[in-house]
Amino acid sequence: MLIILIISSISFLFLFVFFMLRFFEAILPFMFWGAIYVPTSRSKVEKIIEVAAIKPGDKAVDLGSGDGRLVIALAKSGAEAHGYEINPLLVALSRKNIRKEKIIDKAFINLGSFWGQDLSSFNVVAVYGMNHVMRRLEKKLKKELKPGSKIVSNGFEFPSWPPVKAEEGIYLYIK
Ligand SMILES: C[S@@+](CC[C@H](N)C(=O)[O-])C[C@H]1O[C@@H](n2cnc3c(N)ncnc32)[C@H](O)[C@@H]1O
Repeated sequence: MLIILIISSISFLFLFVFFMLRFFEAILPFMFWGAIYVPTSRSKVEKIIEVAAIKPGDKAVDLGSGDGRLVIALAKSGAEAHGYEINPLLVALSRKNIRKEKIIDKAFINLGSFWGQDLSSFNVVAVYGMNHVMRRLEKKLKKELKPGSKIVSNGFEFPSWPPVKAEEGIYLYIK
């Protein structure tokens, strides 16, 4: 009886450790590198586009582009739109969505992290990050973006950079 109890306790412990490792394996990269995937609602996409006020010649980027919905909306509103995305499945899906919309000459998705990229060629930046992302991103964008560049953040504010506009949880910053 005691043997059975010991064996089942050890098995349970192994299973518990196994599932915890799988859980952290999935979640840890996002804790360090960026936000987990939560798509922006259609109404928020419209609000972001309104706040971004895209002009001809604008070059926009979505940092963590998910299924590409914001990149597509930015391209349709007249920008040359780019996205960086670390999840290869979402990259494939967003490229498919871009082909479906027939805007392959205006919307581009890059597989990889935005942290190592030089963002200085973009004058419109969209982000749906989390607090730890915004802290680090504030320094990067202040260093790299040209004066007059716009940043539109969904849901999260920079810790020490006051927005020029805040509407329905969308924050606009001007460098
Ligand atoms: C909150 S979702 C936003 C998705 C999309 N921008 C939208 O508004 O629907 C954040 C996305 O960023 C991606 N991501 C997280 N860290 C990243 C990084 N360092 N570089 C590129 N993409 C990243 C995630 O895979 C996820 O798809």
